[in-house]
Amino acid sequence: MPNRPFIVGNWKMNGSRAMLPEARAIDRAAARYPDVSVGIAPPFTLVAVLAEALTNSQAGGQDCHAEAKGAHTGDVSAPMLADASASFVIVGHSERRADHGETDAMVKAKAEAALAAGLGVIVCVGETLEQRDAGKAEAVVSAQVDASLPSAEAISVAAQGRVSIAYEPVWAIGTGRVPSAADVEAMHAAIRARLVGALGDAGQEPRILYGGSVNAGNAAELLAVKGVGGALVGGASLTAEGFVPIIAAASRAED
Ligand code: PGA
Repeated sequence: MPNRPFIVGNWKMNGSRAMLPEARAIDRAAARYPDVSVGIAPPFTLVAVLAEALTNSQAGGQDCHAEAKGAHTGDVSAPMLADASASFVIVGHSERRADHGETDAMVKAKAEAALAAGLGVIVCVGETLEQRDAGKAEAVVSAQVDASLPSAEAISVAAQGRVSIAYEPVWAIGTGRVPSAADVEAMHAAIRARLVGALGDAGQEPRILYGGSVNAGNAAELLAVKGVGGALVGGASLTAEGFVPIIAAASRAED
């Protein structure tokens, strides 16, 4: 099922071993929705633990360094994540771009490192409120896609289905505000056009996820928007109670 929707929980800097029962409950629920691909990206400290605990869903990282190894205190590389049995990694999240000054070029290098290590990669893009209010949202996001996407060569060498884009308007993250369905559809179409521009026919393939205040109440509507291939979920992914309804909303299977 190559086009299964991808529902990914981004735990950010939250979580300890005490959350393993939540992860297990999410994983058990994921088995009920085989037409949905489910991932959880916990803090680095829990990647190996979760990878071990999950059987119907995947564990992933929230960031990786562009180099495989070296003198980079505090950083974790893509091969290290793969060694911890991660299946994917998120790169270029707006919190990384803002807190750590990550540029598009750095995000691209990280994404290529992830693919080289055999991981799936979710490349995050999204405009600020100021940029949206200035009518620049599509231009900003298109430029981010152009400059953050792994090279066509890196993508063609990687196995199919390993690259996803997450469109996350910065102003929608953790705020309870979401763009209109029409705005999400327009942005996903713009991103698809950039992917096709960069990759030709292969640009039809990456899933484009929506992220930013996705919850049990709005998931069905957001996931039904044309061009939305899944969701990147922060706050609502921290409990099974919050996250499982989002997985269910992505599924066509009866509960
Ligand atoms: P949120 O975060 O769902 O809490 O808005 C989404 C994200 O930052 O990936």
